[in-house]
Amino acid sequence: MTTGLSLARRHFLAGGAAVGAAALLPRRAFAGPDGWRELTARPGKASLWEEGGPLADIWGYDGGVPGPVLRIPQGETLKVRFRNHLEQPTTVHWHGIRIDNRYDGVAGLTQDPVEPGAEFEYLVRAPDAGTYWYHPHNRSWEQLARGLYGVLIVEEPGAKAYDRDVVFAFDDWRLDDERQIDTASLGAMHDWAHAGRLGNVLTVNARPYLRESARPGERLRLRILNTANARVLNLRFAGLAPRVIALDGQPVAPRLLEEETLRIAPSQRCDLIVDLPQEEQVFKIDEVSRGPFTACEIVAAGPAIERTAALPADIALPANPVPKAFDMRDALSVDLLMEGGAMGGMREAMLHGERKGMRELVEAGRMWSFNGIAGSHHDAALFKVARGRTVRIPIVNDTRWPHAIHVHGHHFRVLSRNGEEVTREEWRDTVLTDPEERVEIAFVADNPGKWMVHCHMLEHQAAGMMAWFEVT
Ligand code: C2O
Ligand code: CU
Repeated sequence: MTTGLSLARRHFLAGGAAVGAAALLPRRAFAGPDGWRELTARPGKASLWEEGGPLADIWGYDGGVPGPVLRIPQGETLKVRFRNHLEQPTTVHWHGIRIDNRYDGVAGLTQDPVEPGAEFEYLVRAPDAGTYWYHPHNRSWEQLARGLYGVLIVEEPGAKAYDRDVVFAFDDWRLDDERQIDTASLGAMHDWAHAGRLGNVLTVNARPYLRESARPGERLRLRILNTANARVLNLRFAGLAPRVIALDGQPVAPRLLEEETLRIAPSQRCDLIVDLPQEEQVFKIDEVSRGPFTACEIVAAGPAIERTAALPADIALPANPVPKAFDMRDALSVDLLMEGGAMGGMREAMLHGERKGMRELVEAGRMWSFNGIAGSHHDAALFKVARGRTVRIPIVNDTRWPHAIHVHGHHFRVLSRNGEEVTREEWRDTVLTDPEERVEIAFVADNPGKWMVHCHMLEHQAAGMMAWFEVT
């Protein structure tokens, strides 16, 4: 089993030069005459190994991977009639949307799973503009690894400050020798106890080598997503001088990427704005965690788009209505201690209300914990809080592994890291914590309902790194 990117790199070097397929434009979603958008989870096929190469069996929304790019104007409601044509129960979760709780799509917490052949109607009201995505919240570790995810774009009102937006959804697949999704290793406990399921093929929009055509001089908004089960990506945009304009959907004060490199954890998003130069040129986007591996490229060719003015340094997106006024004196403070995993110090944890030793936990596939509990939605709430109250969560990563902690239904601000104040104002739905790191977050709990907080390394989530809270 090759779990690094080296297999894909060899493969890419051998096969990449011969391929010249133009990038497919993301399919746009249109609602039917009754205003409902049909969306079906079903088996499909995709060429993940090489362009035009062997077809892998996948599970996809509308049979494709990624699923359709869904777009709605800010403040409006997307009505989705979802059908499950898989052999396994599933749901749809609208990641990062501060949604009405009953449509959050968490099996066992906000809805029953949608059985094979059944349907569920989701009303996705999107208060915030930005880049979001949708994916199952039932056996996520398997269903995402098989291809179930899609991008949801909530459009700002008014004229765009860029020529075009481009979606780059990065994914990390584990393929077997037949170039099929390696289903035999789904649920492999070694992965669960370590970093999670890492793959051997890196794709962008499920393309093994995406070539995005552009015009010289074009001003692009790049919507970058990490949809991998577990792999943290370090993406380098050499020669592009991209400016970050949003993180996890929420606008930030624009700034250049340090060393043109973006570190992005599973489920996080980053919107970049970039002016391509006036000359024809090819820009390679590399994953640099283990030395450069080219993931995709932007090919600027043809007649240039004339630019009279340079990209203004302060090209900011309009603010979203996220509640930002903390009342720290009245805040509810809730510790979140992460423990477990390989090479960690965890000796025991509560499982289904009983104290278990590490060996039993490993046997049960539940070797991670939050506050000493290998959690599931069957456990009691982590906390309950009255609507409108500020919640602060000091998070301690007492493990040897990075974890991407995701909060449902709210965006939070990172207040400090290792005791040091974070001055940048960034509103996130997922924060990456490094081994031994302490990260303090806060948010106004203004969205009533039952919400998950969990690690978005999906194997860690399934193995105990999950809890829920209730806003009443
Ligand atoms: Cu993207 Cu609870 O998940
Ligand atoms: Cu984790």
